[in-house]
Amino acid sequence: MSNQAQAAMAQPESLAETLEEVLAGRRSIRRFSGDPVREEDIRRIVRAGGLAPSAGNQQMWRFLVVRSRALIDQMHKAVLEAVEDVLSWEESREYEGRISGMRNGATFFAQAPVTIAVLSKAYDQPLDLHVLPARGYTFEQVYRLRGDPGRQSVGGAIQNMLLMAHALGYGACWMCGPLVAGPALERLLKVEEPWRLVALVPVGVPAQSPGVPNKKSQEEISAFVD
Ligand SMILES: Cc1cc2nc3c(=O)[nH]c(=O)nc-3n(C[C@H](O)[C@H](O)[C@H](O)COP(=O)(O)O)c2cc1C
Repeated sequence: MSNQAQAAMAQPESLAETLEEVLAGRRSIRRFSGDPVREEDIRRIVRAGGLAPSAGNQQMWRFLVVRSRALIDQMHKAVLEAVEDVLSWEESREYEGRISGMRNGATFFAQAPVTIAVLSKAYDQPLDLHVLPARGYTFEQVYRLRGDPGRQSVGGAIQNMLLMAHALGYGACWMCGPLVAGPALERLLKVEEPWRLVALVPVGVPAQSPGVPNKKSQEEISAFVD
């Protein structure tokens, strides 16, 4: 191999190693110090989200950066109320132990100085939006057949933001638990059709360094289908 070719190979390997370090080092962070997140870092995190692939490159996402303490407190209250409401249902009684974990598991975003509310909308494809429904497919059947490309796309954007937050030294967590109060949160955040709130991502300086949770091995999660 020529020196030039060897030099060209060296770069991707170091890039892969750096990427592996970022991927493996990222953890869901659920406790934050009171320290702020620099605005330029927030912009960098959101920019990383926008670099994700998306179906048809439609970039069907919006990120609302919430820093207002008053608004975050209102969001926290709305989620807590929704969790308490669910816990009061007879249907929850059997699962009370696990659902009560949501009192903290769905509300800790309020500790962080910044919460990014992630919005997404449907993939704009005539087949999904017009042809299949006209053919009698319910929306659920359309999603099942087509794999909900809008939601898949926004997932990639969220992961990019988590990785950038980690690379910048912050902690973050992908949260769907708060969506138990979805309609109330959408009202507070003034989310309008066709946008839907799909996740909250609190970002802050970590006040914990959790160990690596059990991750399945490559052999367990993959199969070569030759
Ligand atoms: C779609 C999605 C929703 C999640 N929602 C919550 C949540 O509401 N509350 C929470 O504490 N963690 C939530 N998590 C974080 C997971 O619990 C976490 O990723 C998992 O335990 C693995 O830990 P790790 O992120 O440190 O690798 C969510 C993760 C994903 C991907």
